[in-house]
Amino acid sequence: MKLLFLSLCNLLTYKNLKMAGIYIHIPFCKKKCTYCDFYTEVAPQFIPSIVNSIVSELIIRKDYLQNSTITTIYFGGGTPSILSVAQFKLIFDTIYNLFQVEETAEITFEANPDDLSVEYLETLQCLPFNRISMGIQSFDDEDLKRINRRHTGTEAIQAVKNAQNAGFGNISIDLIYGLPFQTLEAWKKQLEIALSLNIQHISSYGLTYEEGTALWKQREKGKVTPVDDETMNAMYLHLVETTKKSNFIAYEISNFALPGFHSRHNTSYWKQELYLGVGPSAHSYNLVSRSWNMSSITGYIKATENNNTFSESEVLTLNDKYNDYVMISLRTADGIDLSVLEQEFGSTMTEFCQQNIKPFIDNGKAYIDGTKIRLTPYGIMISNLILIELMKV
Ligand SMILES: C[S@@+](CC[C@H](N)C(=O)[O-])C[C@H]1O[C@@H](n2cnc3c(N)ncnc32)[C@H](O)[C@@H]1O
Ligand code: SF4
Repeated sequence: MKLLFLSLCNLLTYKNLKMAGIYIHIPFCKKKCTYCDFYTEVAPQFIPSIVNSIVSELIIRKDYLQNSTITTIYFGGGTPSILSVAQFKLIFDTIYNLFQVEETAEITFEANPDDLSVEYLETLQCLPFNRISMGIQSFDDEDLKRINRRHTGTEAIQAVKNAQNAGFGNISIDLIYGLPFQTLEAWKKQLEIALSLNIQHISSYGLTYEEGTALWKQREKGKVTPVDDETMNAMYLHLVETTKKSNFIAYEISNFALPGFHSRHNTSYWKQELYLGVGPSAHSYNLVSRSWNMSSITGYIKATENNNTFSESEVLTLNDKYNDYVMISLRTADGIDLSVLEQEFGSTMTEFCQQNIKPFIDNGKAYIDGTKIRLTPYGIMISNLILIELMKV
């Protein structure tokens, strides 16, 4: 078994060695949105130190990507658009000194709309960004106030225009459906506005109530009621149908792109390629193990300054790799490839997957296309339930 695992690792290493991504986590927000449980803090006094620590971590971990060429760089958060051009420049200089970055690499930063002034975008011109992912969530001012966003609908539209005028031709926006008190009609209006903006990509998630968030507490106190399942499903179906009519491809459950504008960075996660995640709470994967940095700004700064450990890691078993592959692939339009399963995990695991998906194929939630298992829109709505059945525990 051990031998099989090692040869599988070697095979995967050989296959994917050439390309890799870098993710930089900027763990700051100017204020916290009610629904969000990502690791971020409202602590601007630590921004300069974190930038220095990120530079240190890049240097400490420069060999993690095994000389791969960097094809994507992604600044996520938190709020990367909180950084100044000089702070971004310091990080970019370090990356370009340490790694070989592909000339046509996709280089994205997440931005909050109210940061994207004409002046700020102007200062970014000297940096290699070629894609923006904007967290808009809704264009409705009442929705935005309820979830404690910093911007208005008008500001969001203006931010998209500012980015386009600054030359960005690859813009993604995040929208959340099923916000408290949102009706199906109101959601349709949000999509209509989004699709009128000449953007290339939409990431859209159904609102989830995460334990410990302000939104979770509001629900506990009966101040908000989650949108019912039937409406959530209708919202999702509308999302799939309207984006399709506007020529967007649903390449993953929550991601829709015009042809050629899928997120290369996220796609590389889904294809289980190498990536290095830098910054507090960032995750990394090197085909053999995954690791995650501590979720503490001050702890991370101290550890990188003193050359102490700031991350934990675990070596992936064959079951872990199978579960990751199935979980990720089922969410993508490409689906689970039975020939990949057979080749990388063997016939026992392939048969396990085939047997457990069968009831869902029989009731129209999934289908087989050649060697691929894919979900229908009705399957997507219960994808979590389907995944439980396909997991190896
Ligand atoms: C961590 S945020 C970073 C983006 C950026 N800070 C912003 O909010 O503008 C990434 C995206 O995850 C989505 N998200 C975060 N928490 C969510 C939740 N509880 N339910 C649904 N979507 C959520 C939002 O669409 C958000 O834009
Ligand atoms: S959604 Fe974005 S802006 Fe809001 S708290 Fe989360 S990371 Fe910060």
